[in-house]
Amino acid sequence: MIDMQGVYKTYPNGVTALNGIDVKIDQGEFVYVVGPSGAGKSTFIKMIFREVKPSKGIVRVNNMSLHNLKWKRVPYLRRNIGVVYQDFKLLPKLTVFENVAFALEVIEETPKVVRKRVMEVLDLVGLKNKARFIPDELSGGEQQRVAIARAIVNHPKLVIADEPTGNLDPETSWEIMKILEEINATGTTILMATHSKEIVNTIKKRVIAIEDGMVVRDEHRGEYGYEI
Ligand SMILES: Nc1ncnc2c1ncn2[C@@H]1O[C@H](COP(=O)(O)OP(=O)(O)OP(=O)(O)O)[C@@H](O)[C@H]1O
Ligand SMILES: [Mg+2]
Repeated sequence: MIDMQGVYKTYPNGVTALNGIDVKIDQGEFVYVVGPSGAGKSTFIKMIFREVKPSKGIVRVNNMSLHNLKWKRVPYLRRNIGVVYQDFKLLPKLTVFENVAFALEVIEETPKVVRKRVMEVLDLVGLKNKARFIPDELSGGEQQRVAIARAIVNHPKLVIADEPTGNLDPETSWEIMKILEEINATGTTILMATHSKEIVNTIKKRVIAIEDGMVVRDEHRGEYGYEI
């Protein structure tokens, strides 16, 4: 699913965020990315959906080579990737239904088919009854669930989440984790950057630890491994 070999990223300001990354992730895995602030986690994650370009090295995602991928091919790559952000990034003027429908890539689909697919994912995240609400009328946890619904509406093979519980209270975070686990159980690969020791040490998964742009630890059913 994801294959990185000798990947480096130096930003235009001269900061080297990734310093020789070698990582392979298979279809269906659930992987946490942990490490101190500024370690390179977000850069690592952004590289996978071509939000940032590697300075050097090989990046393959879903059998596409990203180092020489043309810009016009980027939407094709992203079609199979759902992205969830810490700050949700919902469109404030659209309803819950519209936010999810907006992301649905359907060519000449009938409104009935669109409605069915959107309501299916809203049901999965437990928000069917709030389809007509706007984001401001929802709690943080509910907004994040809309963001997850939006990320999965196209049935992507991979969902990547950069600190999806970073702005949520512990109880709401567990609800979000439950949904991510359910999505993973259907065969979707999940890659999630997190600072939550509790989550990583409770819901045991593969843990990739990044420090100073390098993978310093990669363990099956690993631990968070840092204080705080
Ligand atoms: N667009 C950018 N331009 C220049 N430098 C950047 C850019 N984005 C990140 N960096 C730098 O790259 C390094 C890694 O940043 P990154 O955001 O990947 O870290 P992180 O592990 O996600 O940190 P956090 O846990 O705080 O989210 C940092 O030194 C950061 O300042
Ligand atoms: Mg980050």
